[in-house]
Amino acid sequence: MPSPSVSSPMMDAFEVRGRATLSGEVVVSGAKNSALKLLAAALLTEGTTRLERVPDIADVAAMVAVLEHLGVTVDRDGDTLNCSVGPGVGDETPPHLVRQLRASIVVLGPLLARHGRARVAQPGGCDLGNRGIDLHLQGLQQLGATITLEDEAIVAQAPPGGLVAGDFELPYASVGATENLLMAAVCARGTTVIGNAAREPEIVDLAGMLQAMGARITGAGTEEIRVEGVPVEDLRPVTHRVVGDRIEAGTYATAGALCGGPVTVRGVDPSHLRLPLAKLAETGAEVDTEPGAVTVQRTRGLRAVDVATLPFPGFPTDLQPQLTVLLTQAGGVAMVTENVFDGRFRMLDELRKPGADLELQGHHALVRGPSSLRGATVQATDLRAGAALVLAGLVADGVTVVCGASHIERGYADLPGWLCALGGDVRRVGVDVAVPVGAHT
Ligand code: EPZ
Repeated sequence: MPSPSVSSPMMDAFEVRGRATLSGEVVVSGAKNSALKLLAAALLTEGTTRLERVPDIADVAAMVAVLEHLGVTVDRDGDTLNCSVGPGVGDETPPHLVRQLRASIVVLGPLLARHGRARVAQPGGCDLGNRGIDLHLQGLQQLGATITLEDEAIVAQAPPGGLVAGDFELPYASVGATENLLMAAVCARGTTVIGNAAREPEIVDLAGMLQAMGARITGAGTEEIRVEGVPVEDLRPVTHRVVGDRIEAGTYATAGALCGGPVTVRGVDPSHLRLPLAKLAETGAEVDTEPGAVTVQRTRGLRAVDVATLPFPGFPTDLQPQLTVLLTQAGGVAMVTENVFDGRFRMLDELRKPGADLELQGHHALVRGPSSLRGATVQATDLRAGAALVLAGLVADGVTVVCGASHIERGYADLPGWLCALGGDVRRVGVDVAVPVGAHT
């Protein structure tokens, strides 16, 4: 007796046909991890800030929702976002919006700088394990802010005369904390020194836009950033083009090493990928660079290389899952050390399903290769793990289903589209979640 057909819940997924040979060209978007902060920086001044080359991805939509909740009018014209800020901008962000995007915590700095007050719901946990914001708060306190917790919300209050410049040595070169402090300091009275600052290209991009707005910043991209405060009314809206997404670019470059290539990735500054490209070359892939583009291809067998993730200019944690997939196809034993997010290795259980030979030892993973992978049903455990599992599906035998496409779409405007343009076969599907994961034939 067939069971009554009930409409079981479907899950969004990417279906990936294996044994793909990829070659061709990809043009990356503006960097997700810059655009989100540039949107927050628009809060610093009234008028219309224009951001060009903003990726059309879920995280950007979530940050736009935060700005709109604050009273900002945001409209998209192609890849340009026009952010119109009036006098009546609010200073509170609700829990449901912050839960969607923990990065929205970076509105704290600009709201404090402009209004002297901000109430931001505490960001929840995330797929990458514990992600504190203690360094953000400690730094803002160093600028004179009073921080209190009220009903799961962070309430920050500047002194009556506004924030006051201070020196703050970050115990860890936190990207988000550097950005929050940078935006808070632009109007703090005096000169602020941020020590052990994050040096990511996205920090340089944010500082560039703030300088164009009238802020006085030196040292962005180095471990010491100095900010000379200016009156908030001296800041003005600008048009800014978002820096190319080095993580999106690194993902496609890795795909070129994995699936033959040559794959040329345009729209990225190769100097933002120095170590990831050096690692690809160390495995034996052929890597060529030119201004604004990188080309990667695989002309011989790959060999295992060790890698350890670190803040920029170290190897980026956001490209660790993709390199780990490549290392499953390299001859030998590679040690992958994850120093930034303890939740990154949650992907390994999913990568074992198609047959990868992986051993976890604390924050090290031993990858033994080459192993022949076969199609399986796997779960994206976070944005970058999801993209990496799609890459694994491209090289596996048979069909791979990566559940949780929405994870991946948080950071990749059109991963299936670009991979198909390169010769792959990747499509978005709905899968019946009643089917036990891993049962895919
Ligand atoms: C940014 O996250 C990026 N996200 C991440 O990209 C990226 O992996 C990370 O920087 C490192 O490069 C955005 O820019 C939106 P951190 P962020 O502050 O700012 C600890 C992706 O996939 N920490 O440098 O949160 C924290 O727990 C995402 O695009 C504290 O303990 O990174 C983590 O272990 C994933 N207290 C480490 O530092 C704090 O106050 C790195 O955090 C702040 C951070």
